Amino acid sequence: MYKILLKQDLVPNIHLFKVAAPAVAKKAQPGQFVVIRIDEKGERIPLTIADWDEGEGSVTIVFMEVGTTTHKLALLQTGDFITDFIGPLGLPTHIDEFGTVVCVAGGFAVATIMPIARAMRAKGNQVISIMGARNKELLFWEEELRRVSDQLIVTTDDGSYARKGLVTEPLKELLEGDGKVDRVIAIGPSIMMKFCSKTTEPFGVKTVVSLNPIMVDGTGMCGCCRVSVGGETKFACVDGPDFDGHQVDWDLLFARQRIYLDEEKCSFEQWQSQSGILK
Ligand code: FAD
Ligand code: FES
Ligand code: MG
Repeated sequence: MYKILLKQDLVPNIHLFKVAAPAVAKKAQPGQFVVIRIDEKGERIPLTIADWDEGEGSVTIVFMEVGTTTHKLALLQTGDFITDFIGPLGLPTHIDEFGTVVCVAGGFAVATIMPIARAMRAKGNQVISIMGARNKELLFWEEELRRVSDQLIVTTDDGSYARKGLVTEPLKELLEGDGKVDRVIAIGPSIMMKFCSKTTEPFGVKTVVSLNPIMVDGTGMCGCCRVSVGGETKFACVDGPDFDGHQVDWDLLFARQRIYLDEEKCSFEQWQSQSGILK
C-alpha cells in the first residue's frame, strides 16, 4: 500500500498527489511513468512521474479527472492509500547537450514536462518553454516552469490570460526567428502533439512527443499500447513513451485511444449512479 503524503487541487479538475514510494523515487528519471491501481478491483492506469525526492522516498503525480478511475482517484485525500504504484516504467527522455530546446506543454502536461525542462537546463541547454491551456482557470505551475526555463511563453485558447491562441503559434515564430532551435519536446493531448510535430516538420527540427495510448501492464506484455512509428510497430510502454513526432502514425493512435469509448462511458455512468456523485 502506498500512502498519499500530500494532496493538492491544482485547478478544479487537476490534482497532485505526493505518494510514499521509496523504490520508485530511487530510480525515477525524467519522462518515466508509473502504473497505479486504486484498489484490488481497480483498473490499471499509467501516470507520468512529475517529480520525485529520493531522500523523502516520495513520488509526485499530477492527474486530470476524465473518467471512472481518475474521478475515483480524485476522491482520495492526504493520508489515504493507493493499492499498487508500479514503476518507474518506460524509457527515460533522452537528455543531452542539444543547444536550444523548446519544451511545449498542453494542459496537465505542464507537470509532465517539468523534470524534462529542468534536466535539459541542468545539462547546459537554453530552455524555452511554452505552456498552454484552454483558459486561465486551467493554468497551473506557471512560476514553477518559469524557474526551470530561460524563457516562458504562456497561451490560453480563449485569451482569458496571457497570449490568446494555441501553443503552435509561438512555436512557429520561434522556428522562424533568428535563434536556432535544436530540439522540440511536445507533451500534452495527442492532437496538440500532432500539430506541434506538423509545425516543426518543414523546419527539420527533431520533435520528441510522449505518446499516451491505452496501457494495461506497462511492461510490454499485453500489446495494448501498440503504436506505429516510422512504419514499425512499437509498444509505447517499453519502446517509449517518447518517440519522433514526425514518424508517428497519428490516425492509428487516435483510433486506438477510442476503442473502449462505449465501455468507458458505461462504466462512468454506472459509477456515478452507484456512488451518487453527479459531475
Ligand atoms: P476512462 O473514461 O477510462 O478513459 C478516458 C480516456 O483515457 C480513454 O478514452 C482513453 O483514451 C484513455 N485511457 C483510458 N484508460 C487508459 C489506460 N489504461 N491507459 C492509458 N490511457 C487510457 N493522465 C494524467 O492525467 N496525468 C498524467 O501524468 C498522465 N500520464 C500518462 C502517461 C502515459 C505513459 C500514458 C499512456 C497516459 C497518461 N495519462 C496521464 C492518461 C491517463 O492514463 C488516462 O487519462 C487515464 O487512464 C484515464 O482513466 P479513466 O478511467 O479516468 O478514464
Ligand atoms: Fe501492455 Fe504496453 S501496456 S504492452
Ligand atoms: Mg478507465
